[in-house]
Amino acid sequence: MLKLPKMTPHTAAKHLLLKRYLDRWFPILGRYHKSINYIDGFAGPGEYQGGEAGSPQMAIEAAKAHVEKGTLDPDVQIHFSFVEADPESAENLKARLSALQYPSSFRVEVTTGRFAETIGTELDRLEHSGQAPAPIFAFVDPFGFSGIPLELMGRILRYPRCEVFVNVMVEFISRFLEHPNDQIVGHFPRTFGTDEVLEIPKQMGDRDAAILSMYRNQLATLARYVGRFDMHGKRDQKTYSLFFASNHPKGFEKMKEAMWSVDKAEGARFSDADPGESYAFELFPFWPLWDQLLARFAGQRVPMEDVERFVVEETDFLPTHARTIFKECERKGEVVVEADPGYRRRAGTYKADKVYIKFPADAQARGLF
Ligand SMILES: C[S@@+](CC[C@H](N)C(=O)[O-])C[C@H]1O[C@@H](n2cnc3c(N)ncnc32)[C@H](O)[C@@H]1O
Repeated sequence: MLKLPKMTPHTAAKHLLLKRYLDRWFPILGRYHKSINYIDGFAGPGEYQGGEAGSPQMAIEAAKAHVEKGTLDPDVQIHFSFVEADPESAENLKARLSALQYPSSFRVEVTTGRFAETIGTELDRLEHSGQAPAPIFAFVDPFGFSGIPLELMGRILRYPRCEVFVNVMVEFISRFLEHPNDQIVGHFPRTFGTDEVLEIPKQMGDRDAAILSMYRNQLATLARYVGRFDMHGKRDQKTYSLFFASNHPKGFEKMKEAMWSVDKAEGARFSDADPGESYAFELFPFWPLWDQLLARFAGQRVPMEDVERFVVEETDFLPTHARTIFKECERKGEVVVEADPGYRRRAGTYKADKVYIKFPADAQARGLF
């Protein structure tokens, strides 16, 4: 009989992060595309022991809520493709999803099969037909480290507006990297797209950090933007990391917003050891971003849109954090803000295409916060 998994705080946080991203992704993509693909490659049985919904239902309901609110055009076709290898889990998922009501523009498909083979075959078909797919968001949430070849991530990321969100189970990987069974160890080069992963156990230093850094570097060969969010277990040990890879700056910015909405202190982690929000937003540590802004722009007059691009693409922060800093700096006279002639700027606003920030020279500006 099928044993449903137990919901844990970090699973709930993973779902929340995914939902916060999809709440941004569906409406934005729906504005420009008439057709969208959502893939959940390791879909699970669709529910947890306490009846909580699995990730497939969560995604359908997120899109449905936008159609109902009018923030997603009801004509946008969304193809939800759920892949689950375990037949019993797939049946359970089908039953759970068949009880849902959703707009007729949604096509919901559950495939009993393996992620890599199922999606690989679909991509083969597309490639032979010479077509590019509609935008894809692929959630890849395995329990383990096999069946997620980096090569397949690359095939998805090669197309415009296609993104992957992949769970890398660093705790398992670290434990199994030196396993005596060659068949088990043989999965790693495919998952990481390089044999070099097998050298990690021979190195000194923090093994988890080396694994995560190698995976990030490998993804960075396939996508311009790579983000990471860490999940920690009950003893605050690192359990897995969710990597987001995209070639689109807007997608990356929206994922960073989603991460900051889940972790208001650092935008990068959740721990079962401390599932509450430990910091009030007012205590947000401004310093690292201010230092980075000064290191890049000290003494310069910079269009706000360039500042925003820098913040999104080259720091862990968001434009909203920069604006909060500028409000404080402007009040103290440490930055000067100039607006385009003819633009009537309201105090405390920093419109990307209308204002310029004049940064102080580095040394004078420290000690603001
Ligand atoms: C971590 S669970 C997924 C949980 C689900 N994404 C959620 O958040 O509700 C992983 C699932 O992947 C399934 N699975 C294992 N290997 C697979 C493969 N190669 N392809 C597709 N599914 C697989 C397992 O049976 C299991 O149900």
